[in-house]
Amino acid sequence: MPLLIVKSPKKMQALAESIRADGKTIGLVPTMGALHDGHLKLVDIAGKKADIVIVSIFVNPAQFAPGEDFGKYPRSFKSDCEKIEKAGARIVFHPSTRDIYPEDYSTFIDPGRIGSILDGARRPGHFKGVATICAKLFNITKSHIAVFGQKDGQQLAVIKRMVRDLNLDIDIIKAPIVRTAAGVAMSSRHSYLSEKGLEKAKVIRKSLLLAKEMIAGGERSTKTIENRMRKLIQAVPETKVDYISFDRWDDLEPMNKLLGRVMISLVTVIEGVRLLDNEIIRIEN
Ligand code: PAF
Repeated sequence: MPLLIVKSPKKMQALAESIRADGKTIGLVPTMGALHDGHLKLVDIAGKKADIVIVSIFVNPAQFAPGEDFGKYPRSFKSDCEKIEKAGARIVFHPSTRDIYPEDYSTFIDPGRIGSILDGARRPGHFKGVATICAKLFNITKSHIAVFGQKDGQQLAVIKRMVRDLNLDIDIIKAPIVRTAAGVAMSSRHSYLSEKGLEKAKVIRKSLLLAKEMIAGGERSTKTIENRMRKLIQAVPETKVDYISFDRWDDLEPMNKLLGRVMISLVTVIEGVRLLDNEIIRIEN
């Protein structure tokens, strides 16, 4: 069956209803397009968990602050559709901004503290925009499951919290980070980087692995680990650390002691581009 492109939220809901009436399950992969292998992995995982996979492509203005890259965010709808079809999804939901946010639109979801720390502190309102669009996409596509990548770890935590807090009838699946051959976590924003920039980005993974190694060797001082990570990154010219944080997975509460499941988040700025990466590890003692 050829790929079906649905633009109207009402038509998408009607189609989702008929899929459900046929006794089939729906898996959603929410995206903003500019698809890379990381997104295709999400499609693959969704295909293993649900009968019909819907990929949404919508560059969501509500999650960009004024002055951020909404206008220049890469858009490649035609090639995205080719990739989606090859990856085995059946439906693309590609609404207009006006259909999602009519002129008098006024309802937003505020995720609270979990959305206002870390990246939320640097990008105020970002996770309010993410939570709102995801809740809308869940309702429009009537999905049973939705797959999110671990690379955007805080986003995943915010969505899981929203689903729990609002009793949304959907399962959120965490997909592993997909990396380039050089170990850089895949991101649509790589298109902003020069080859040299991508080369420099290798240090991100290296410093996360250093943190893991130090913890495996018994180090428990986040200050000591952070200092070593910063040193490694700062040795690469024109590469800045935005932040390094050690938080409990998956509520992102600060940790007095490194114990249990921990997300080590690292945001680095290279050539003006913020690159997110993380490791989620279990510390037994
Ligand atoms: O991760 C993204 O691409 C976006 O934040 C999402 C989840 C599609 C919401 O716009």
